[in-house]
Amino acid sequence: MKQPSPRSTGLLVLLLLLCLFFADHAAAATGPLGTASRWIVDDKTGVRVKLACVNWPSHLKPVLAEGLSKSPLDRISKMIRSMGFNCVRLTWPLFLATDKSVSSRTVRESFDGLGLHDAIAGIQANNPKLLDLPLIQAFVAVVENLAANDVMVILDNHISTPGWCCHGNDGNGFFWDKYFHPDLWIQGLTNMAALFKGHTNVVGMSLRNELRGGRENVDDWYKYMQLGAEAVHAANGDVLVILSGLKFDSDLSFLVDREVNISFPFANKLVFEFHWYGFNDDSEWANGNANDVCGRIVRRIIMQAGFLLERNFPLILSEFGLDLRGTNTNENRYFSCALAYAAANDMDWAFWALPGSYYLRSGIVDHDETYGLMSFDWSGIKSQPHLTRLQSIQKPFRGPGPMLPGHITILHPLSGLCVSVNDSSQLLVLSDVGRCVDRWTYTRNQTLSLNNDSSSSCMAAGGEGKEVRLAECQTRWTPLSDSQLHVSTKMEDGTSLCLEVGGDGRTVVTNPCRCLSSDSSCDPQGQWFVLVNAGDWV
Ligand SMILES: *[C@@H]1O[C@H](CO)[C@@H](O)[C@H](O)[C@H]1NC(C)=O
Ligand SMILES: *[C@@H]1O[C@H](CO)[C@@H](O)[C@H](O)[C@H]1NC(C)=O
Ligand SMILES: *[C@@H]1O[C@H](CO)[C@@H](O)[C@H](O)[C@H]1NC(C)=O
Ligand SMILES: *[C@@H]1O[C@H](CO)[C@@H](O)[C@H](O)[C@H]1NC(C)=O
Repeated sequence: MKQPSPRSTGLLVLLLLLCLFFADHAAAATGPLGTASRWIVDDKTGVRVKLACVNWPSHLKPVLAEGLSKSPLDRISKMIRSMGFNCVRLTWPLFLATDKSVSSRTVRESFDGLGLHDAIAGIQANNPKLLDLPLIQAFVAVVENLAANDVMVILDNHISTPGWCCHGNDGNGFFWDKYFHPDLWIQGLTNMAALFKGHTNVVGMSLRNELRGGRENVDDWYKYMQLGAEAVHAANGDVLVILSGLKFDSDLSFLVDREVNISFPFANKLVFEFHWYGFNDDSEWANGNANDVCGRIVRRIIMQAGFLLERNFPLILSEFGLDLRGTNTNENRYFSCALAYAAANDMDWAFWALPGSYYLRSGIVDHDETYGLMSFDWSGIKSQPHLTRLQSIQKPFRGPGPMLPGHITILHPLSGLCVSVNDSSQLLVLSDVGRCVDRWTYTRNQTLSLNNDSSSSCMAAGGEGKEVRLAECQTRWTPLSDSQLHVSTKMEDGTSLCLEVGGDGRTVVTNPCRCLSSDSSCDPQGQWFVLVNAGDWV
């Protein structure tokens, strides 16, 4: 058996340089964004800008971005940036932009009115300059601080009445609901768009979060969303105009046979968004085999929203997330499945959510946010492992821009690590995505070969429980199961082995493929890998 030759240091250095450039490339944009087919791009250069956002709620009763009683604004912005996010989806209630009694209320008055005296003391200590600002000015201050930290902003009209969102019958769900008059909504969107004209980090406006409830219907969706889009564009031609779907933004399927009709030439500003949570499909995850459920739900997601990408419309997964305590089995499986989908499609996205806690949510002071990245006291990160997983999809894998021909990155959604080769041992290992310099090709022969390696070294299975190494190109690999997330090979005796993460969490081994039957208790995540089409930025 021919031993593969070690790759030259020169190539490694080149790739490291590419990576550095690549990392830099994923930084926040400064100018307006536009779209080019399904991609969001820098409007001037046409180069892809991937939105890797975190949701930062500012729409609850106090109408102040959460966390400012616990940590200085600038510290939070810097943490967002240092976690690798280039963007925040900042939520706001409509009345902040339409009702003077809300917008001109000071932060102190707002918190005082809600009896949140500890929070006032906290804001006094951490953000004294904000305390006596009117709420609208405090909102602007947050956007400006994010700008100073090179973080882009999507302004998301989350609800009309300040408060936790969303219920089907809360009067905020659809046009003509009690608190959702279309004219007032358009006025609020116009005010907000105009207010942030010239704020170059405000790159998009999400017209309305999670439409829902008994009144929702497709005709009104077209009627008012088109009006809203035109109004925003008229007031601020720089921002992306982002439209969400029906049924709590889970459904955009009506766009299959009826396009959005906009009269002005801003086709390159139009973007769609959708939400995907595990709890909506809780019983499916609880009762079904994880491979079957993942496959089935992904097909549903494609029918309801993902088809837009295939039709070259930009689509943001603007809310997804899970209980970061990690104790919810259903959500854990959902999240690996969703992460694999987001990686494979190289989606723009916004994680729900940033907060460790809320000033006041649903009547509870200092409400814990188990889905939040920050610790309860906002001093640090709650779960580095989950952050690592998000970081694995922050950088663009491909898209318009100066790129070399494609290759494949092999990502393990459960860890957020990718498969690379240890040059001295020639064994496969899991690495942080930033250090994954190996460029795999999935050949017609179903081998996984390393690109640009004249000796044609490939991923080679050694047998059950054995480490996977780089060797001659003989092992054929095929995706298996309804999820297509198992990477399997057939051994001579007819058994199928699958790639799996070894017990140390870093090595890659082959073991009998698991969870292919209808067993719902079986957890396949150790064997879930996704082959992501990628390019190299130059
Ligand atoms: C392979 O890499 C070498 C540098 O190590 C480079 O000179 C050569 O052009 C590359 N070949 C291809 C086909 O990319
Ligand atoms: C699109 O809008 C324009 C202007 O409002 C209108 O004239 C046209 O009929 C509309 N087209 C469709 C397909 O609805
Ligand atoms: C690579 O392999 C060498 C030799 O087996 C080992 O000493 C080293 O720790 C490995 N490095 C990584 C990153 O796994
Ligand atoms: C596929 O396999 C054949 C025969 O083993 C070999 O000649 C050919 O080069 C392989 N092609 C690729 C793309 O690996």
